[in-house]
Amino acid sequence: MPPRSSACSTVRSVRAPAVIALILLCSGSAFSLHPPGPTRSPESSFANRTEGQQRRDRRSQVSRASSTPRVRRSNTGWTAGMVAAPPRVLEGAGPLWQRWWFITLLVVLGAVSAWALLKCRATRVRQLRKVRTRIGRDLHDDIGSNLTRIAVLCEALREQSTAGDAATEARLTSIGRISRESIAAMSDIIWAINPQQECLTDLVRRMREHAEEVFAERGIALSFSAPDQGELQLRLDMDLRREVLLIFKEAITNTARHACCSRVAVSLRLDSEFLHLEVTDDGIGFEPSDAPGGNGVPSMRRRAARLSGRCGVRTAPGRGTSIQVRIPLKQSRAAATLLARIRRVQEFARLSRFEP
Ligand SMILES: Nc1ncnc2c1ncn2[C@@H]1O[C@H](COP(=O)(O)OP(=O)(O)O)[C@@H](O)[C@H]1O
Ligand SMILES: [Mg+2]
Repeated sequence: MPPRSSACSTVRSVRAPAVIALILLCSGSAFSLHPPGPTRSPESSFANRTEGQQRRDRRSQVSRASSTPRVRRSNTGWTAGMVAAPPRVLEGAGPLWQRWWFITLLVVLGAVSAWALLKCRATRVRQLRKVRTRIGRDLHDDIGSNLTRIAVLCEALREQSTAGDAATEARLTSIGRISRESIAAMSDIIWAINPQQECLTDLVRRMREHAEEVFAERGIALSFSAPDQGELQLRLDMDLRREVLLIFKEAITNTARHACCSRVAVSLRLDSEFLHLEVTDDGIGFEPSDAPGGNGVPSMRRRAARLSGRCGVRTAPGRGTSIQVRIPLKQSRAAATLLARIRRVQEFARLSRFEP
C-alpha cells in the first residue's frame, strides 16, 4: 500500500528526479545520501505498516519541524523525502553534576554562603564588642564607685573609732583593704574586656605601669624589655591578656614581698609560636620543696595551663628567683606582622588626608 501524503505525516516521500536532488544538495540543505542496502529504515517500513500503526505513529510527538530531508535510491530511481529526525539528545547532557550550569550554580551558591557566613561573624563580633564595652562601663561606673565609697568610709570610721578598740579598727582596716583589692581586680577585668585595648602594646603598658608602681616605693631597680614596635601591634585574645597580666602581677608581688632583692629584670618576647615572659630577681631565692605552700605559685601554673602553656620556677637559696612562662599564640606572627603593616599604612593614609 503506497504511503498517504498528509500534512501531519512523519514521513513524506515524493519521487524526484536526480537533478532535483542535486539542486537541493547544492543549495546547502542538510541532506544525507543512503547507500542501498538491506537495512530497513523507519521511513521505508512506513509504507508497509497497517493503517492502525500509521495512525499511532501520526499521534506521536514527532512534528514536521523535527523532520530531516533525505534522498535515497530505490529500484525505481531516486527518492527525496522528509524523515522524522531521531529524538534529539541534548548537547552536553549527562549526569546533573557534570553540566556547566549546575557547576556554576554550585560555585555561586558557595560564594554567597561564604559571604553570608563572614557577614554574620562580623556582625557577631561587633555585637560582642558592644556588650563588652557596656559591661566594662557599668562595672566601672556602678560597682567601682560603690567600692571606692566603701573604702573611703572605712578609712573615715577607722580614724573616728575610739582609741583602744583594736578589734573594730582591725575589721575596718580589713574592709578597706578588701575594697581596694576588689577595685584593683575589677579594674583588671574592665581592662581585659575592653575591646579598645586588645593589642600586645596595651598589655605591655599595663605590666610596666604596675611593676614601676610596686618597685618604685621599695627602691628596687627595674629593667623591662618588650617586643619591638611591629610586634606590639599583635592582637591578643581577651583571656590571654588577662591571664598573662595576673601571672605577672603575682610574680611581681612575690618578688616585692619575699625576694629581698635590689634588681628585677622583666623580659617579654615573642617567637614564631609562643609568648615568653620572664621575671628574674637577684634576691634570696628559696628551696621549692621547703617553701610554705601558698596560693600564688600554684595559681600562676593553673593560669598558664588554662592557656595551654606552662609556668616554671627556677630558684635556689641565695641565687635569686626566675619565673618563666610560655604561652602558645593562636595567631601566627607572620599574619600579625602583616596586619600591623596594613594598619600602619591605613593610619598613614588617614593622617595624610587631614594634613593641610
Ligand atoms: N621571688 C621570690 N623570692 C623568694 N621567695 C619566693 C619568691 N616567690 C615565692 N617565694 C617563696 O614561695 C612561697 C610561696 O609563694 P606563693 O605561692 O606565691 O604564696 P604566698 O606569696 O602567698 O606566700 C613564698 O611564701 C616564698 O617563701
Ligand atoms: Mg604570692
